[in-house]
Amino acid sequence: MIITIVGGGSTFTAGIVKSIALRKDELEVDEIRLFDIYKERQDKVAVVVKWILDEELKSGIKLTVTYDEKEAYDNADFIFAQMRVGLYAMREQDEKIPLKHGCVGQETCGAGGMAYGLRTIFPMMKVIDDAEKYAKPTHWILNYSNPAAIVSEACRVLRPNARIINICDMPIAIIDVVAAAMEIKDKQNIVYDYFGLNHFGWFTKIEYQGKDILPDLRQYIKEQQILLPAAYLKDKQALASSNDKNRHTKGSWYYVWKGVYEIMENFPDKLPNTYLNYYLQAKEFVEHSDPNHTRANEVMESREANLFNGIDKYLETGVIDEKVFYAGSHGDWIADLAIALKNDTKQRFLIITENRGTIPNMPYDAMVEVPAYIGKNGPEVISRDPIGLFEQGLMMQQLNCEKLLVQGAIEGSYEKVLQAFTLNKTIPSMSVAKAILDDMIEANKEYWPELK
Ligand code: NAD
Ligand code: G6P
Ligand code: MN
Repeated sequence: MIITIVGGGSTFTAGIVKSIALRKDELEVDEIRLFDIYKERQDKVAVVVKWILDEELKSGIKLTVTYDEKEAYDNADFIFAQMRVGLYAMREQDEKIPLKHGCVGQETCGAGGMAYGLRTIFPMMKVIDDAEKYAKPTHWILNYSNPAAIVSEACRVLRPNARIINICDMPIAIIDVVAAAMEIKDKQNIVYDYFGLNHFGWFTKIEYQGKDILPDLRQYIKEQQILLPAAYLKDKQALASSNDKNRHTKGSWYYVWKGVYEIMENFPDKLPNTYLNYYLQAKEFVEHSDPNHTRANEVMESREANLFNGIDKYLETGVIDEKVFYAGSHGDWIADLAIALKNDTKQRFLIITENRGTIPNMPYDAMVEVPAYIGKNGPEVISRDPIGLFEQGLMMQQLNCEKLLVQGAIEGSYEKVLQAFTLNKTIPSMSVAKAILDDMIEANKEYWPELK
């Protein structure tokens, strides 16, 4: 049993490997392979991965670190993809260019997300093709690589038969925060219902021990004026520190948890995904952003610096501080999904999949994020009632934006990409869309398909 991690040099690799190794018996894993195109980075990350497998957990799992596609994918059972095309340097551009034009600058939303999408679509198709060529015919690709909404639409159009499931850790991170706020220790017993597009959805029900806890949660959010656990709010220092385990509560993430309160003041019915803030409070996001210091800078100064400085320190002193790498729900989620596929458990997961009537008033071919039961043949999706006009209207605008972007990338069409930028809710006018797009073409010369 072989698991290949594509983007082996990621800041999340060590955490994912730890989650895999802790599930060794259920996954029956013999070998983990790391594959990346950036040798220096992956070689460093491999040091801490080896420590986890051999020293910390004494797992007996073999580690292979490679830069060769055949060696990486050969006979693999699972491919966990998590690549960041253009690294944080390009994420910084994705965030700063739109902000310069007064628009939301974000990793996966708005113009930044579209820029990231245009860089990632074709490298992701290569992952699918390499897996098809070398991996087991029964392989599964579990993909975290962002922007997952655009990537999954590109997969649907360009590789409709690929054995890939696109996923996101944000809903589960929200459930972590809900559990902490509601003082629920066994969060695995929380059952929720959810619909949307990736980074664009709503929880419609959250149950614990058979009881709907959304009314209590609604009350809690109203009282606290934010969705964060009271314990975190008391300890402002923990909230600011980069070493706390829950990375989603750090730095500028604060605003989106505050935004959940602000959205629910107007629309209390559902619990919004934190990412809806970028669309529903775009103006406010720009106002509290620092165009010279964005989330990319925060991450480079915290998660990335902690990891690589920690590895250097280990290499010098032989002492490792576990806090240098991030472990938690992000790794657990992808490893548990692999268990469900391999062992046919039919456990319930949120995944991104083709609608096919699941949401009756969304197009058949929309890539939606909905609950599914996961077994050896893949996801079995649960169909639902029609959604409200507000949510459907927002989703249609975002969906058509993503579809136009993917079409524009495939056809090399400047006009279609400009239509995608113009349609996006975070961009106020056609001329602003064009100005951002033209700056982004310049910044992404090395990565984007040519647009004519
Ligand atoms: P990172 O830059 O630390 O790691 C990404 C790695 O991918 C780098 O080592 C880079 O060299 C490598 N890479 C780039 N292009 C590649 C290619 N063509 N082939 C193979 N490897 C390549 O980034 P990170 O912050 O650790 O995030 C990793 C990815 O996971 C990003 O795409 C991020 O957006 C995504 N992510 C997704 C979710 C989700 O909810 N879906 C959650 C967290 C992170
Ligand atoms: C959440 C989202 C991911 C996104 C990440 C960014 O986990 O689900 O899709 O990549 O946040 O987190 P960061 O700490 O890098 O800003
Ligand atoms: Mn996500």
